[in-house]
Amino acid sequence: MTTEEAIRVRVSVRTYRPDPVDPTTMERLRASIRSAVPFFPALGARIELISEPERAGRIFTGLNKVFGRVPHALVGLSLRDPGAYENLAFMEEQVVLEATKLGLGTCWIAGNFNFEEAARMLRATAGEVASNAIAFGDGQSSLYNTVNSSWNLNGSAVVYC
Ligand SMILES: Cc1cc2nc3c(=O)[nH]c(=O)nc-3n(C[C@H](O)[C@H](O)[C@H](O)COP(=O)(O)O)c2cc1C
Repeated sequence: MTTEEAIRVRVSVRTYRPDPVDPTTMERLRASIRSAVPFFPALGARIELISEPERAGRIFTGLNKVFGRVPHALVGLSLRDPGAYENLAFMEEQVVLEATKLGLGTCWIAGNFNFEEAARMLRATAGEVASNAIAFGDGQSSLYNTVNSSWNLNGSAVVYC
């Protein structure tokens, strides 16, 4: 799958199979984190992978409860600055598209996210903020496949806190 195809086919996935992602796929995803290119190299950003379901579960405040167990997470941390957030998101989307190419489901999460717990877990430094997470795993289905899409598209099914 090309990156352009990944952009076209990707949808948010909110229900996951409980099994961990296989180690080879996980290592490829880790490699994509290491090679993600920043838009503004001077602005600090890091993407951390949380592989343990128990730890991933602690940072999601809604997804786990509403849609079921989330096996893994990526957490984005950056300086507390709008430019740094853009930079971080630019890097994260590269990883999301790589995950799509690897056949994984993903869902960006900034509403149902325990910012403080993520910052604590990943030892955020002074000035650094955990600004979002991306749930990922082997998808069971996307929200589009499980509910009437108009229900999703009018926003009522999107569980923001
Ligand atoms: C920065 C960001 C934060 C998001 N936060 C949440 C969230 O907290 N909960 C949620 O269910 N979806 C969240 N989403 C996913 C959007 O709801 C989703 O992208 C939108 O419904 C469009 O669906 P699609 O990704 O399948 O095209 C977030 C998306 C982005 C880009």
